[in-house]
This record gives sequence, structure tokens and C-alpha cells, in this order.
Amino acid sequence: MTSKLLCAAFVLAALPLSITFSLQPDQQKVLLVSFDGFRWDYLYRVPTPHFHHVMKHGVRVKQVTNIFITKTYPNHYTLVTGLFAENHGVVANDMFDPMLNKSFSLDNMNIYDSEFWEEATPIWITNQRAGHASGAAMWPGTDVKIHESFPAHYMPYNASVSFEERVAKIIEWFTSKEPINLGLLYWEDPDDMGHHLGPDSPLMGPVISDIDNKLGYLMQMLKKANLWDTLNLIITSDHGMTQCSEERVIELDQYLDRDLYLLIDGSPVAAILPKEGKFDEVYEALAHAHPNLTVYKKEEIPERWHYKYNNRVQPIIAVADEGWYILQNKSEGLMLGNHGYDNALAEMHPIFLAHGPAFRKNFTKEAMSPPPHRGHGKPGEREQESNAYFIGVTLGSIIVIVFFIIFFKHLILSQIPALPSMQGEIAQPLLQA
Ligand SMILES: *[C@@H]1O[C@H](CO)[C@@H](O)[C@H](O)[C@H]1NC(C)=O
Ligand SMILES: *[C@@H]1O[C@H](CO)[C@@H](O)[C@H](O)[C@H]1NC(C)=O
Ligand SMILES: *[C@@H]1O[C@H](CO)[C@@H](O)[C@H](O)[C@H]1NC(C)=O
Ligand SMILES: *[C@@H]1O[C@H](CO)[C@@H](O)[C@H](O)[C@H]1NC(C)=O
Ligand SMILES: *[C@@H]1O[C@H](CO)[C@@H](O)[C@H](O)[C@H]1NC(C)=O
Ligand SMILES: [Zn+2]
Repeated sequence: MTSKLLCAAFVLAALPLSITFSLQPDQQKVLLVSFDGFRWDYLYRVPTPHFHHVMKHGVRVKQVTNIFITKTYPNHYTLVTGLFAENHGVVANDMFDPMLNKSFSLDNMNIYDSEFWEEATPIWITNQRAGHASGAAMWPGTDVKIHESFPAHYMPYNASVSFEERVAKIIEWFTSKEPINLGLLYWEDPDDMGHHLGPDSPLMGPVISDIDNKLGYLMQMLKKANLWDTLNLIITSDHGMTQCSEERVIELDQYLDRDLYLLIDGSPVAAILPKEGKFDEVYEALAHAHPNLTVYKKEEIPERWHYKYNNRVQPIIAVADEGWYILQNKSEGLMLGNHGYDNALAEMHPIFLAHGPAFRKNFTKEAMSPPPHRGHGKPGEREQESNAYFIGVTLGSIIVIVFFIIFFKHLILSQIPALPSMQGEIAQPLLQA
């Protein structure tokens, strides 16, 4: 059985849980909110009364393990597909696909090529195939045509559009004559400021307070629209952030001639494509170059990262230790905060809170970590239809299932191949009996 089918099996196994809900499945609403780069422990840095209100009246998981690489696009696509990067195909913010002979780059906003997104099917499409409507305010990928579809309502990406405007759209869609049942809302901070200031900076305090105020604004608007008591709100993030420094730079030019390779993605996971016939030379030059750089041939990438089985993963990846920065030349300059490192590191972990009729009240789960043994995708499996689609067509139009897909995926992405009973154990404590 492939890992994808196992995932489907686990959601099916979770179905009886959902039937115990006292809710009308067709009235379920879910709003999934991501504050980019909100590290799990930011909640305790400064007073965050709105986040704490949600926790007290809802559920929280203190430590959720996200996926490798701990970057924005890979993790946001995991949140809406339930798949590891090697399975959903968005393996980095900057990619090259040798089969397509095409590049993808967040830095250049060259992200609109559908083919990069179509190894999976995101939840907003699965939801619509089931007869419902989805609405998205800037969530990564929601303004890209994927499998010939867009969300019923979406905003073309524009970083200058305020949080308030995004919230206004979400509320409008949830309360319109033909309302959405699934909303996705994205905000760029505290990631932007975390990169700029570094997470250890005392100036991050006001940045976190500002996010708490934004959550307060969202809650106020949901209450005003009579949505607060009926909507299931999930507040999460893609990854955390760690402090970097000019004292911790690994300069590739010191070890490797630029003419020998292309640098597809930079720091902290350098994706290296050696030029024709130069693989051995590049690998030998880098393998023992720096004590804080671990260099993997593609086939040596640890299984636990669920990362190697995709064409878009380059022949060599070089992974920096936490807080270390990879540059070709120091003169390129660095950011004081970064993420992308090993997803086992606590500083890479995001927040997870939820509130609404489906959730228990005032419930905390300490950690959700991957089980010790997990399967992995094999080459060729990703050519199959994604599990989200599989689940969608199998289970049809019950929004509770949509809810479960989001929910499970999030809770423990890495649990995909685990036993169904384990899945139930993981999610059950958070849900209303
Ligand atoms: C890949 O695309 C580039 C242009 O982007 C082109 O010059 C090159 O010939 C293509 N390679 C192959 C193998 O098609
Ligand atoms: C982005 O949004 C800002 C603020 O709403 C607006 O002034 C600007 O014209 C928008 N840019 C594009 C390209 O739509
Ligand atoms: C880095 O760039 C600077 C300025 O361009 C140059 O002087 C220096 O030699 C470069 N360092 C390496 C290791 O190539
Ligand atoms: C960097 O490498 C040194 C030498 O191996 C090691 O002692 C140190 O712990 C490493 N730093 C990190 C952040 O892992
Ligand atoms: C929440 O739970 C904690 C510990 O389980 C308890 O001390 C606290 O009084 C509860 N708060 C509310 C508002 O129920
Ligand atoms: Zn970032």
C-alpha cells in the first residue's frame, strides 16, 4: 500500500470520530489562518491576550512538528494537502524541475506556473469538487490556477493589501448569499520582521504584540458578523525562526568554483546542481568543507525528512546547522533571522491553536511529534493522483471530512503512514466528544 493510500485509510478510519459530533456537518465552517513565521514560543515573549483567549476557550498544541524544509511554500502547501514536500512537489521556495526544464522562484514571484502545484490537490479545490465554495485572502498558491481551478473567491497576491482588507473579504465571503464554508487567510508577519531584526531582538516584542492585536481585530470582526460561535478557527503558521549572525557564515566560494554548479536554492539548505560531469568534483569539494555544513548526495538524504523522492530535489543538498548561514560570498549580506533548518529543531516549530464548535475548551496538548518509524514515497508514486483528491472523491461532500483533512494534516503531517489508531489518539483529545 502506498503512503498516500495509507493516508486516505487513516482519514477513513477517523470518520467514526466525526459522526460523534453533535454538529450538522453541512453547517461546518473552517477558517484557517497563518501568521507567517510565528514561532511556537512567541506566545510567551510578551502578553498576547487574544491568543490566550483562544487557548482558554479552545485547544492548543505547544509543539507541532512541521515539515522539511522549514520554508514558507513547502509548509503552506503541506497545510492544505496533508503531504510531505516530496509528495506535494513544492520542495522549496526556489526550485528547478529538470523534467519540465522550468524554474520556480518566490523571490522573483515566478510562482504562477501551474505545473509546480499539480503533483497534489489543495483543500480549497477538494472542497469545491465536493460542491462547496472556498475563499482565500493571499494564502500562498490560492491565486494560481491548479488543476484548472481557482478558489471561488480569492485575492491576487499583493503584499501591500492590509490585514483589515483581507479580513473584510473573508467576512464578506462567509456572510454572502452563497457563503463559503472554507476560508484561508495569510499574513506576512512576524516572518518579515523576524528575518530583519532576528528573533532574539527585543524589538520583536512589539512585532508580536502587533500580531496579537491583529488577531483581536479578526475576533472582533467575526463576532460582529455573528460568526464567532459557529466558525471553527484554526490559527497556525508555517515555521519558526532562529537567530543568525555574521559570525556564522559558510562561504561556498571558499570551497567551490562557481563555474562547477548552479545554486538553485540558498540558505540554510543549499540546493546544488553540478554542471554536466562535475558531480564528483563538487561533492568532494563540499563534503568536508565546514563543520557546520552537512552535505548529502540526494540518495543519502535522511528518510525522516521525507524529502528525497522528487525530481525537484537537486543531486546535492548542503544543510547548515541551526543559526548558520550559507552564502556564496559574504558580500551578499545576510538576514539576522532565518528558517528552513531541520524540522526536528524546536525553533523551527510553528504555533497551533483552534477554537470553535468542533473543539474542546481549554485543552492543551504538549507535543505532536512524528512516530519513530515512517514509510516514504517511492519514485513514481507522486505520478498518482494526490491523496487529497482521492479522499475528496471517495467521501464526497461532507464538510466535516474536509475539516478533518485540514485538521489531521496539520496536526501531524508526518503521521501519514502511521497506524489509524494512532491518528485517532492524536486528534481525538482536541475535539468535542
Ligand atoms: C531548457 O530551457 C532553456 C531556456 O530556458 C533552453 O535554453 C534549453 O535548451 C532547455 N533545455 C532542454 C534540454 O530543453
Ligand atoms: C496593491 O495594493 C495596494 C494597496 O491596496 C494598491 O495601492 C496597489 O495598487 C496594489 N498593486 C497592484 C499591483 O494591484
Ligand atoms: C567576495 O567578494 C568580494 C567583493 O566582490 C571579493 O573581494 C572577494 O574576493 C570574494 N571572496 C571570495 C572568497 O571569492
Ligand atoms: C558547529 O560545529 C561545531 C564543530 O563541530 C560544533 O561544536 C557546534 O555545535 C556546531 N554548531 C551547531 C549550531 O550545531
Ligand atoms: C483551564 O485549565 C487549567 C488547567 O487545566 C485550569 O487551571 C484553568 O482554571 C482553566 N481555565 C478555564 C477558564 O476554564
Ligand atoms: Zn521567511
